[in-house]
Amino acid sequence: MIGRLNHVAIAVPDLEKAAANYRDLLGAEVHHPQALPEHGVTVVFVLLENSKIELLHPLGENSPIAKFLEANPSGGMHHVCFEVADLAAAAETLVAGGARILGDGKPKIGAHGLPVLFLHPKDFDGTLIELEEVKPELQPA
Ligand code: CO
Repeated sequence: MIGRLNHVAIAVPDLEKAAANYRDLLGAEVHHPQALPEHGVTVVFVLLENSKIELLHPLGENSPIAKFLEANPSGGMHHVCFEVADLAAAAETLVAGGARILGDGKPKIGAHGLPVLFLHPKDFDGTLIELEEVKPELQPA
């Protein structure tokens, strides 16, 4: 069901510093910050050869990242995102298998403008999993 690792998301207390670390210390290609008010986050994408790192920082009130940073003040891995070709079919299979989908169970439009779902971390060894629908023909070679 799952395809490529689309990104690993890391919640960071200082977005500028985190972006500078990836750019200057690790020598990665780092994009400009993107405010996503509807998701309560500002993101910075770090492009890797085979995947991406998504640096997440809280934006506005009720950010889903705020509580995480309260519990992990120095930041930490927040979720991993796997690509699937058919999100509705994936959701059906997962629910039938006993996994829980967060929220109302319906796909939302994620940070890349594509439909996403999040799976309950308690069903996956304490790891929050995001599934993103990526049509195979849209994937870069
Ligand atoms: Co994500």
